[in-house]
Amino acid sequence: MSGWRPGDRRPDRASMLRVNQAGEYGATRIYAGQLAVLRGNSPASKLIARMNGQEQRHLARFDQLMAERRVRPTALQPVWNVAGFALGAATALMSEQAAMACTDAVETEIDGHYGRQLEELGDDDPELAADIKEFRAEELDHRDSARKAGAAQTFGYPLLTAAIRVACRVAIGLSKRI
Ligand SMILES: [Fe+2]
Ligand SMILES: [Fe+2]
Repeated sequence: MSGWRPGDRRPDRASMLRVNQAGEYGATRIYAGQLAVLRGNSPASKLIARMNGQEQRHLARFDQLMAERRVRPTALQPVWNVAGFALGAATALMSEQAAMACTDAVETEIDGHYGRQLEELGDDDPELAADIKEFRAEELDHRDSARKAGAAQTFGYPLLTAAIRVACRVAIGLSKRI
């Protein structure tokens, strides 16, 4: 698949921006929940604070593109505010490794999500594609950092990450439309 050809459906870039902004917003809320629980000087909380800084940059960029292109945000923002914070706080309360497993699971889904968007966009919107490419690389770095920090040592890792990945897929599906 490479881009739009006559007869193809044009990628719905408003929906892409909406779901991406929702996802980056959710990421900042997850990390806010984790940082509210973890102590500020542990290696895990330093890593989370660094990743959170990048999520805030991603979010600011999608906010800007949405304003420029007059795309409305998802109506589910208040839900992601609470759900993201709760997921972050809950995983951090389980353990630092569980907080890492949360990032591992979320970024695995986001990598696939951004990859599919890039395929769908092809050469259609180089401005948006460049941002997605850059952010995707940083999300993969988050996933790898979380794995290095011991995500897989979490008790119940397969079940926990599977559940979080399902939740991500549901959130992505909803934020595209609503
Ligand atoms: Fe991000
Ligand atoms: Fe991330």
